[in-house]
Amino acid sequence: MKVITSDGSHTLFVPALNEHYHSVNGAINESLHVFINAGLKFLKPTNLNILEIGFGTGLNALLSFVEAGFSGKNIFYQCYEPFPLSKDIYETLNYPELIQHPQALEVFIKLHESEWDAVIEINDNFHFQKLNNKIESAILPDNNFHLAYFDAFAPKIQPELWTEPIFSKIYKAMRAGGVLVTYSAMGMVRRNMINAGFTVERLSGASGKREMLRALK
Ligand SMILES: C[S@@+](CC[C@H](N)C(=O)[O-])C[C@H]1O[C@@H](n2cnc3c(N)ncnc32)[C@H](O)[C@@H]1O
Repeated sequence: MKVITSDGSHTLFVPALNEHYHSVNGAINESLHVFINAGLKFLKPTNLNILEIGFGTGLNALLSFVEAGFSGKNIFYQCYEPFPLSKDIYETLNYPELIQHPQALEVFIKLHESEWDAVIEINDNFHFQKLNNKIESAILPDNNFHLAYFDAFAPKIQPELWTEPIFSKIYKAMRAGGVLVTYSAMGMVRRNMINAGFTVERLSGASGKREMLRALK
């Protein structure tokens, strides 16, 4: 079920989980704050491998594509999504019209319609791979990713994902100096990240949330 958030951008509400895909205080604002500003813009390397847990609406991928163009970064973006949205849902989301970029709509549709597993060249500096898999069963390469967007449903909804074994798996797949960013700052989440080997900092959260976490390998 589509909902308009405070910045005018859509999010989805899942009645069975009683949970939204993004903050109702602004979906685009939250994605920019947590994933783009605290993650993508924070990292110095020009060539970046990004891992996303939960492709969902494709908002983080679209914003990363736009930022890659602005900053001249080359991005390989790999994401996991076991429960993809149907076309009648994603094609009515208003992100392409709100994110003012000449290719926003074309790229947004391409991201959703891209073949599972295949590495798709969106343009010279953005390559994209979507896997129809849960992160729990993913086989991740060692020392590969510079950046991880941890965007699963909240710990109270999916406690099995915010655990030490899952963070250890991601830690192993990340390069030294790489960062994982997420919107949750729960104490249990932070402790599980620390036990997995990360050095964790609390940053101010997106509108409506006090804190978020950035974990460094
Ligand atoms: C909070 S939503 C955010 C999605 C997305 N990043 C966005 O901006 O729309 C969480 C997403 O994680 C997906 N998900 C659920 N269980 C998962 C799992 N075990 N592994 C990976 N993704 C999962 C959900 O289907 C959903 O799309």
